[in-house]
Amino acid sequence: MSSSNSELAQLQQQIQEAIIKTFAPEDEGLRNALTSAKETGLPEIQISPIQGKLLQLLAVACNACKILEIGSLGGYSGIWLARALPQGGRLITLEINPAHAAVVRNSFAKAGVGDRTEVRVGNALDLLPTLQSEAPFDLVFIDADKEPYPQYLEHALRLTRPGSIIVADNCIRQGQGFLPPQNDYTEGIVEYNRRVASDPRLTSLALAMDDDYTDGFTIAVVNH
Ligand code: DHB
Ligand code: MG
Repeated sequence: MSSSNSELAQLQQQIQEAIIKTFAPEDEGLRNALTSAKETGLPEIQISPIQGKLLQLLAVACNACKILEIGSLGGYSGIWLARALPQGGRLITLEINPAHAAVVRNSFAKAGVGDRTEVRVGNALDLLPTLQSEAPFDLVFIDADKEPYPQYLEHALRLTRPGSIIVADNCIRQGQGFLPPQNDYTEGIVEYNRRVASDPRLTSLALAMDDDYTDGFTIAVVNH
């Protein structure tokens, strides 16, 4: 039994690698963002290449010209998203740490997306109320601290239009995203999943899609 479990894990990994090689290879700009983030001491918790490509696909599917990201980390997801924008498109990413924001700006420039990206520094819950005049955003990607996910969702709903897509990372967390909350972290994602799944304004789904299929995005489309 354990041998077939490990064979399954190996097969899953081979499939992931083949999908990445075929559909989502990283270039110099993405690899540089990872190296710079690591040198800055940021945790290596960025999305996978497959998740990056899915963000691009969703951005193209909703004709995204304006994208909002909540939580920049090292700029890796921001590069995937910004590269899906058409000429004149704009990505605004919110980052609480000014030093990290500087690293992200540098990585964006090196990845060739400096012209269409803007890193805004501050607590997302302070910055989100200031974005109304720049709305609607066509895609919102939520990947910051987990406790306020339900509040980020309220802002995302206010700042989007019918057809916009709202994506949130880390909504499964080894299944904790659907269990009675264990702590503030899981309370945020449990409540987030509960709200998007039951909100009549949204069509939504959680997708297990990280390396070992135990974490992933919850994706919600704002209904027409
Ligand atoms: C954590 C946060 C993330 O956004 C992530 O993708 C993985 C882990 C964390 O806070 O542990
Ligand atoms: Mg994350």
